[in-house]
Amino acid sequence: QVDGRRLVMVSNRLPMSLERTEDNDWQTHPAAGGLVSALDPVMRRRGGVWVGWPGIADEATDTLRDVLDARYNADSAYRLEPVALTRDDIADFYEGFSNEVIWPLFHNRFTVCRFEPDYWQAYQRVNREFAHRISEVARAGDFVWVHDYHLVNVADELRALGVHNRASFFQHIPFPTADIFCNLPWWREIVYALLSYDFIGVQTVTDRINFLDVLTTLFDHVETQAGEYGIDINIGDDGLTRDKQQLRIGTLPISIDYDHIERMAASEDSLTKVQRFRGNWRDRTVVIGVDRLDYTKGLPEKFEAFREALRRYPELRTRVTLQQHVVPSRQRVPQYVEQKEEIERLVGEINGEFTEPGWVPIHYSFHSMDQAELMAHYQVADIALVTPLKDGMNLVAKEFCAAQRDSDGVLILSEFAGAAAELGDHALLVNPHDVVSTAERIHEACYMAREERCRRMDAMREIIRSHNAFDWVEEFLRAAGANQ
Ligand code: UDP
Ligand code: G6P
Repeated sequence: QVDGRRLVMVSNRLPMSLERTEDNDWQTHPAAGGLVSALDPVMRRRGGVWVGWPGIADEATDTLRDVLDARYNADSAYRLEPVALTRDDIADFYEGFSNEVIWPLFHNRFTVCRFEPDYWQAYQRVNREFAHRISEVARAGDFVWVHDYHLVNVADELRALGVHNRASFFQHIPFPTADIFCNLPWWREIVYALLSYDFIGVQTVTDRINFLDVLTTLFDHVETQAGEYGIDINIGDDGLTRDKQQLRIGTLPISIDYDHIERMAASEDSLTKVQRFRGNWRDRTVVIGVDRLDYTKGLPEKFEAFREALRRYPELRTRVTLQQHVVPSRQRVPQYVEQKEEIERLVGEINGEFTEPGWVPIHYSFHSMDQAELMAHYQVADIALVTPLKDGMNLVAKEFCAAQRDSDGVLILSEFAGAAAELGDHALLVNPHDVVSTAERIHEACYMAREERCRRMDAMREIIRSHNAFDWVEEFLRAAGANQ
């Protein structure tokens, strides 16, 4: 509640996915990804309503609502309100426009974008559908908070439906430079749609600068003023701006529920697993990677860097193991299928090159894990290797630090992850395309003195602890004027 008014969170993905079993019953699965990891604890604490898609095709809204009511809403601190998507919506809106157009474009991969007009039609249609569902759920005075690139048009559609609740937007992924963004045939429409929000939050200063740059490409008169939480933008009357003249945009890096992660890491369940895993590794140095299967995560580059480290520094062989957990994601999008083939080929190749009796260089898994298990893996690891080619934030980097209860661990972090803006002074920063220097950093991390490891890790833990997911949400709501 915000002063008695509810928080209505809106995102494409709900924290819970539904599946029909063969005997026509229902199964629920927790959803993966940074958005859900950050918002779920916030909603548990604050309460409210979360509107989104429960990950299943061709079910009626009423059916989904009944299942969520029975399986989730009955004993939860907040309500889930389903948006039903058809198979076509999933193909053209979710897999198509969201994940074959905006996702690659905003991660600087515009050559893989499929600029299909049908995808754009579906995007508009489904955004309208989301707005319609919000109009049924939101009461006057509720604060509507829309998340991420799937739903840019929602505020515009809400206004068209005559819904005038405050509506803000947070973009979890990067915002590209104007040079890249303007390849999108519908880039002007996307900018106009964003202007319908009262407030926009982004992860980094670079994202904000890029967005401003796009605005100045579109409008002749863009004036900015520094405000408490970022900048106020006034767009002059140049005939293009319809009735929208002002926008506020703030840099608000997302975070994790630090205390919960630390508690989970210290739980009996997790510590039992730590004992078991330690037994497997004996005195080896364990390098951990945890990534959704995504071509933005730099998985091939990470494996190449690890191979390079083993080639350059033979003393690391038999002593260091890379434990790479890959979480299945967007498995019907062709680039994701290709990415899986590529990384599995590379893992096979590298293991084939170096494996010796009693030592396999890369331990690879492809499934999702529960939190206690993930925390145990983080704790057992000595080094985290987080090498996205581009990433809005990367919460895995923050979770790894929060789980290092003895502060003894090294974070190797891509300079292209949003997290580098906050942790860059204390992590070992790498350019993931530079395989040789990443290999050098792996070597450096393996031999770093305990005192330096702890000093760096302490500093990162403090940064994350003092700016956790709850601080992030409070700051966003203040910046967005949710209490006004
Ligand atoms: N994660 C998960 N299931 C797993 C492994 C990881 O849900 O099996 C979580 C992980 O704890 C983290 C999130 O997925 O909170 C990944 O977030 P990140 O910001 O690193 O990347 P994203 O997947 O959002 O691009
Ligand atoms: C990233 C995006 C989220 C998305 C998540 C998982 O974190 O920013 O919006 O939910 O990936 O991807 P999926 O396609 O499974 O929702």
